[in-house]
Parts: sequence; C-alpha cells; structure tokens
Amino acid sequence: MGFQRFTMFFLLALIILSQGLVKGTHGFACNWGLRSTHLLPPKIVVKLMKDNGFKQVKLFEADAGALKALGNSGIQVMVGIPNDMLESLASNVNAAIAWVNQNVSNYISKNGVDIRYVAVGNEAFLKTYNGRFVNATFPAIQNIQAALIKAGLDRKVKVTTPLNADVYQSDSGLPSGGNFRPDIQDQMISIIKFLYQNAAPLTFNIYPFLSLDADPNFPKEFAFFDGSADPVVDGSISYTNVLDANFDTLISALEKNGFGSIPVIIGEVGWPTDGTANANKKNAQRFNQGLIDRIIKRQGTPKRSTPPDIYVFGFIDEAAKSIEPGPFERHWGIFNFDGSIKYPLNLGGGKSLVAAKGVNYLPKKWCVMSDQANVMDPGLADSLSKACTYADCTSLSPGSSCSGLDTKGNASYAFNMYYQNMDQKKDACQFNGLSVITSTNPSPPQSTCHFEIMIDLSKHENKSTTTTTTTTTTTTSLAAPKMKMHSMVMPLSTFMFTIMLSLCM
Ligand SMILES: *[C@@H]1O[C@H](CO)[C@@H](O)[C@H](O)[C@H]1NC(C)=O
Ligand SMILES: *[C@@H]1O[C@H](CO)[C@@H](O)[C@H](O)[C@H]1NC(C)=O
Ligand SMILES: *[C@@H]1O[C@H](CO)[C@@H](O)[C@H](O)[C@H]1NC(C)=O
Ligand SMILES: *[C@@H]1O[C@H](CO)[C@@H](O)[C@H](O)[C@H]1NC(C)=O
Repeated sequence: MGFQRFTMFFLLALIILSQGLVKGTHGFACNWGLRSTHLLPPKIVVKLMKDNGFKQVKLFEADAGALKALGNSGIQVMVGIPNDMLESLASNVNAAIAWVNQNVSNYISKNGVDIRYVAVGNEAFLKTYNGRFVNATFPAIQNIQAALIKAGLDRKVKVTTPLNADVYQSDSGLPSGGNFRPDIQDQMISIIKFLYQNAAPLTFNIYPFLSLDADPNFPKEFAFFDGSADPVVDGSISYTNVLDANFDTLISALEKNGFGSIPVIIGEVGWPTDGTANANKKNAQRFNQGLIDRIIKRQGTPKRSTPPDIYVFGFIDEAAKSIEPGPFERHWGIFNFDGSIKYPLNLGGGKSLVAAKGVNYLPKKWCVMSDQANVMDPGLADSLSKACTYADCTSLSPGSSCSGLDTKGNASYAFNMYYQNMDQKKDACQFNGLSVITSTNPSPPQSTCHFEIMIDLSKHENKSTTTTTTTTTTTTSLAAPKMKMHSMVMPLSTFMFTIMLSLCM
C-alpha cells in the first residue's frame, strides 16, 4: 500500500522538468520577471546577478530596460515572446522578421546583449487555454527560426518554447509510462522534430511546490531533495524526489517518440517564501539549496545523467503579479523586491548569497493604526479594503509571515503597505482618521513579519528605464497568466490522475 500510495502521489505530481543541457555553462540561471510596483533599477539587478554567479537569464518579454542593462554583462539571455503575439507571428513571416530585428538583432549589435535563445510563447499548450494557442505555436516557431536565419543569427540564437509539464503524463503512474498528452501529441512531435533539426532545445517548467500546495495528501518530503520519503520504485530505478521523477517522465515520453537525446532546459523551478503555509523561508531555502547543490555537482536524473540548464523562478519578488493562483504568487524571488536577502544560500566554492548594492530607500517612516483608533471603528473595513486593493497584503494571508498579527497589527500592516506603495506621500497615510505616521519600526520583535520601507526610485539615476512595467495596472496582464495557469492546471491534472489511478487500482 505504501508503495501504491507513493506511486499515486507521484503521478499527482506530474508537473515537469527537463533534462538535457546543450553546453556546460558553469553558473546559475534565473527568470527575471518585471511585474513589480517599484522595479529595482535594471543595472542593480544585473549587478546582483553577476555578484551571485548567475550567467544566464530568461525574460518573459523583450523589455528594453532589462535588455539594455544586460548589454556587455557577460550574462546569456533567453528572451520571451508573450502568447498574445503568437498568432500574428504565425500568420506573417514579416512580423517575425520585424520582431527578430527589433528585439534580437538590435540588442545584439547596438547594446552588446548576449542573446542565446528566443522563447516563443509561454506554456502555450496549457490545458486551461483550451487549445487557444495550439495552432499558432509551431508556425510562430518556424517563422521566428526563418527570421533568425535571415538575420544571420541562427547559429548563435536558438529557438525554443517553454512548456508546462502538463503536456505529458503517465498512464502507469510511473516515470517509465511517460508520454505526451494525446490532444497535442501531433503538435509536440512536429515541434520537437523541428527543434531537433535546428539543434535547438526543448524547455519545460516544473513546480514541486504547486504539487504540494494543490494536494493536502502530497508527501511533503518527496518535494525536497533531502527528503526522507520512501523511494518510488520504477523498474530498476528508485526515485527519491519529485523533480527527478517528473523529469524522467518527460525523458520517457521523448524516448517513446524517438527523441531520447534532444537537449532539454528546465525553464522554471523554484519555491515561494510567503502567502501560504508551505511557502515560507525555511522550505524555500531547503528546496533551493538542494537545487543549487545539484547544479553545482552537475547532477542529472536517473534516466539522463547530463544535467539540464535550470532557470530558477524567480530572481526577485514581483509585488504586482496577479494573485489569482494564490497569495504566494508575489513571493517566488530568491531576493526580496529590493534585492535584499531572504535567506542564506551556499553557492559553492565558499561563496554565499550577497545582497544588492547601492539601493536607495525612503526615510525610516511607517504608517500605522493610531493608538487612539478603535478596532471597532466602522471606517476600518473600508480603509483596509482600500489599502489592500492597491498594495500587496499577501503577507497577511493565513499561514503567511504576518498572519499572527492582531486586528490592530493587521490594519497597521495594510496601512503601511499602502503608504510605502505610494512612496510615503503625506496624504497616503489618511485612513478615516485611524492612522498615524511613526518613526518607530512597528515590525513585531521575534516575528517573521516585516513592515517594509519602499525603495526611493527618485534617487536612482533612471527612474523607470522600462516602459511597460512601472504601474500595476498595465503590468499584471502579461505575465500574470503564466502562473495563474500553472496553478490552475496543477489541481486539474492532479484530479485527472487521481481518477485514472482509482480506475486502475
Ligand atoms: C518587441 O518586443 C516588445 C515587447 O514584447 C513588443 O512590444 C514589440 O512589439 C516587439 N517588436 C516587434 C517589431 O514585434
Ligand atoms: C486548429 O486547427 C484545427 C485543424 O485545422 C482546427 O480543427 C481547430 O479548430 C483549430 N483550433 C483553433 C483553436 O483554432
Ligand atoms: C488579519 O487580516 C487577514 C487578511 O485580511 C485576515 O484573514 C485575518 O483574519 C485578520 N486577523 C485579525 C486578527 O484581524
Ligand atoms: C539613465 O539616464 C542617463 C542620464 O539621463 C542616460 O544617459 C542613460 O542612458 C540612462 N540609462 C538607461 C539604462 O536608460
């Protein structure tokens, strides 16, 4: 029974992974998302990457500020194309030529950006998209490849498409049973064949955290690399963690279709630090340290000993992301939004994580509920709702870092987030007469809850180097669907597998 239960969990966890690795880069790779209310200046972020040994970065779109800052940095770049551009790129090779010209060739030649990959779409085959992007993806990949050839860049810049692990599954519940989802099998084969012929890699995203978060019965230890879970036995192989199991499910799917040796990149994997009970610094440190140790040791999986390139999700917190997937969505960063350290990581060679340098902050002032104010005040609910509509209150969610506060502490936390989000403007600390500005740090001692001070963008030489990312309203739309889909898809596929399994057992 123990075995069968684990087998089932295993299945449930089928998220994804990848494998291959084109060339041996020694360094770390990360995703740099830009859905922030207060973007840390791109130059500081790039310096932070370099200081911590990151040599590859993935962007979700061709953001001008980020790309310029990456110029001549020595960091290799994967630049993404949002799903909503797929159709036009698919139907018109000239659109692809223009995209490559503006968003690849120019940055390489004019800004010295070391672009190595174009990621066409983002998890375009997610079941939750109901096939919306399925027909456009392959032609868009072909047109981008044609455009790269036309630009004379096809040897240096490879095309790929990051896919969610829901493109494959295992009817047996074990990695060896892996195959592609029947509804997109033909598309998958066409894409894989094309990428293979062009010496380009496949890219898959894996999320053990989402498996755990979606299923209260998931064996938690199996999500980590040093866990004490009983191994899942698949023929002669014993699996001790979800990542290996998922990755090898993909490898089995590739082998079954005759592409056992195609290079694979893990496009996203990581662990958030706040927003829900399992999203905390302890778990995130445990998971990410295990991941980093594997990267340093160049450890592969049982079925593929050559390790894949692994892009950690994410580098830095994004307080303006949609929280539809869950309150944890804004807390995936290894670093806080300001480039400060959340938890230590051993990066190998005696190095540990270092924080961002040269970050300017607003004065040490906080907005809190005043001593005179009453928690029964009828204006309180309104005030809280206003504060948390515009600012990030996800740290107040059940199980989160500030969930232990009393009602007054709660209100203070929300007021302060709003005040900081509004750059400490005087009139931003006016909540129906319930609030007051203080210079005494209200963060409770001995608590995980931290009342933050906003970074001072006016003191940085370039206030906003990016055009599309400085306001919450314009930014949530683009990258938001990514994680949203992740987490929606997980429970869904989990559910499916559960049904499949109960039928088999
Ligand atoms: C370059 O990328 C940006 C960001 O995704 C996009 O807005 C723009 O349309 C792209 N340029 C072309 C010519 O497609
Ligand atoms: C994709 O193409 C197939 C075959 O041409 C067609 O039946 C299907 O409706 C298309 N799907 C979408 C979402 O357009
Ligand atoms: C604090 O706020 C959170 C989020 O609004 C809420 O779930 C929780 O019940 C509040 N706690 C108290 C003690 O008011
Ligand atoms: C920052 O501002 C300076 C001075 O205005 C300008 O020369 C520089 O190009 C800007 N840098 C970026 C990355 O936009």
